[in-house]
Amino acid sequence: MKVLIVGGGGREHAIAWKVAQSPRVTKLYCAPGNAGIAKIATCVPIGVMEFDKMVAFAKEEKIDFVIVGPDDPLVGGIVDKFEEANIRVFGPRKNAAILEGSKAFSKDLMKKYGIPTAAYETFNSPEAALEYVKTCPIPTVLKADGLALGKGVLICNTREEAIEGVKTLMLDRQFGSAGDTIVVEEFMTGREVSVLSFCDGKTIRIMTSAQDHKRAKDGDQGLNTGGMGTFSPSPFYTEEVDKFCREHIYQKTVDAMAAEGREFKGVIFFGLMLTPECPKVLEFNARFGDPETQVVLPRMENDIMEVFEACVDGTLDKIELSFADNAAVCVVLASDGYPVSYQKGFEIKGLENFDGATDKFVFHAGSKFDGDKIVTNGGRVLGVTAIGPDLKTARANAYAATKLVCFGNKYMRSDIGKAIDEA
Ligand code: AMP
Ligand code: GLY
Repeated sequence: MKVLIVGGGGREHAIAWKVAQSPRVTKLYCAPGNAGIAKIATCVPIGVMEFDKMVAFAKEEKIDFVIVGPDDPLVGGIVDKFEEANIRVFGPRKNAAILEGSKAFSKDLMKKYGIPTAAYETFNSPEAALEYVKTCPIPTVLKADGLALGKGVLICNTREEAIEGVKTLMLDRQFGSAGDTIVVEEFMTGREVSVLSFCDGKTIRIMTSAQDHKRAKDGDQGLNTGGMGTFSPSPFYTEEVDKFCREHIYQKTVDAMAAEGREFKGVIFFGLMLTPECPKVLEFNARFGDPETQVVLPRMENDIMEVFEACVDGTLDKIELSFADNAAVCVVLASDGYPVSYQKGFEIKGLENFDGATDKFVFHAGSKFDGDKIVTNGGRVLGVTAIGPDLKTARANAYAATKLVCFGNKYMRSDIGKAIDEA
């Protein structure tokens, strides 16, 4: 089978690495890919939003199966385009990717079907939103309705911040049209857990739990980023939590989407908060998490192509997922200054130290070739993942592995997985 992966970050590198292990795959392409992915796939210089070019390439190369990584093309309807061309594709159609593409949609869905989440109000006009935040409980949370690179959520600890926040989103339009509608949400407390799942429209299979570290600096200080590191499993995702979520969240979400005529095929990423009351949904994503994927897939024992195909064919009920009884930790190596401004183009050295290793991996997020050198090409540069028999060992292994690579401006958090000590 000839397979094409759409995307070019650390998540897509981890997916490509796992797909490359499948005996079903004869040839692997990635568009646009990156310098790390180029080791295991043929990279094609087509941008993820260039749908017509992407479909034309897939037709020309007689691609049998496409896997879409990022949110933007999914929300934009790339899956529908491949389907129209009769190419098998893994990912939700546009009408289902709205689960991530619109916070107002996902909140209304949860309300309608009784899926636990924070109380909220939706606003289309700045005047009404301003009126509301003048009296609503504080702290409060403002969310831009649309995609905003993970930055469209404002936690407001004072009323002044809430008023300013509404202005930023709706009047200054900091995230463009994504903020024309906003959700104002009850502030919740508790531990956060990410849970990834495969869905075929009817059946849902849960992968394993993970935890991200979204802030740039140690101690969860600094600005929000795409994610500075992850660990899996989460020790806070207990059997009791799992049971509750299976009963009240996972299958209900898939059934709700089907009932709305928006059959969901692909990955649903449940962003959960374990509140004192019960687990509640913070957000849905319609794709694999980044960098959650970098700790989840190295623990997965299935042939991932078999699972992808079952999702597309509607036969996921025949598949049981299997994860190793171990742990994984991923530490993101970033360019100093990320997420604001940073220099790129520094040579990355030491990548060969990971060649052939089965307990540590380096997934490229932002790298490219400069002649025959590999250089930094993004805010997040590499995700160094290590596995171990337990979380503490995996964490020690991951930090040891971060020393094996170097580049100018290398920056990482030193406390990825600190929560493990509190479990
Ligand atoms: P989201 O993109 O919706 O996951 O929000 C980004 C981050 O904001 C989450 O990972 C939480 O840390 C935080 N957050 C979102 N919604 C709430 C809420 N209702 N209460 C407290 N924190 C929240
Ligand atoms: N790591 C969070 C996300 O992928 O949205």
